[in-house]
Amino acid sequence: MKCLAIQTSPNTDGLTAATAQAVLDGFASEGGEIELIHLNHMDIKPCLACERGWGPCRGGECTQEDDLEAIREKIREADAFVFVTPVYWHDLSESAKRFLDRLRRVETFSGRDTFVGTRTIGVTAAGGSGNGAARALHNLEDYLKRVGLELVDLVTITKFSRDHKLPMLEHAGKRLAQGVPGVVTRQR
Ligand SMILES: Cc1cc2nc3c(=O)[nH]c(=O)nc-3n(C[C@H](O)[C@H](O)[C@H](O)COP(=O)(O)O)c2cc1C
Repeated sequence: MKCLAIQTSPNTDGLTAATAQAVLDGFASEGGEIELIHLNHMDIKPCLACERGWGPCRGGECTQEDDLEAIREKIREADAFVFVTPVYWHDLSESAKRFLDRLRRVETFSGRDTFVGTRTIGVTAAGGSGNGAARALHNLEDYLKRVGLELVDLVTITKFSRDHKLPMLEHAGKRLAQGVPGVVTRQR
């Protein structure tokens, strides 16, 4: 069993990374394998909008040569997935949007349903005010559902809620490793 987490803050020691790590810690405590990707360290180029809009992405391929395909493969191989973005301007971070925009293009029409059944938690990590954390979460939900991921939880976390939500998310990581009752997972 493997859990992949992607955190999309430039800070590798901030709230966003700590949130992703909490879920991974819970998963690992049940004997699961874990991996954390700091998305800002990866090479994700902007969409070229080939052929004036839709190019090979309609068939599930992208012409850009960067880390998208490698990360996509890691999500495919994972049994559980966690995506955490900081809240910037009531929305996802710039790197999160660029990555998810590209992922959405290659997954939407590919017909491969490659992420269906992958149990997923989405989190938006905000500052003290928490303004826009719920709106950002709503946008994140759209992205994650669009690519076929099986959402088992959507969570906001702020500097205020950190102390009670990090333990909760660690527990969620344990439950991801144990399997989630009521959620049908893909047979691999
Ligand atoms: C450009 C920018 C925009 C931000 N916009 C918001 C916002 O709309 N609402 C909010 O609550 N916090 C906002 N914040 C604060 C971040 O969400 C907060 O610091 C977050 O915890 C950062 O995560 P990190 O510790 O992983 O860097 C913003 C921060 C930055 C840098």
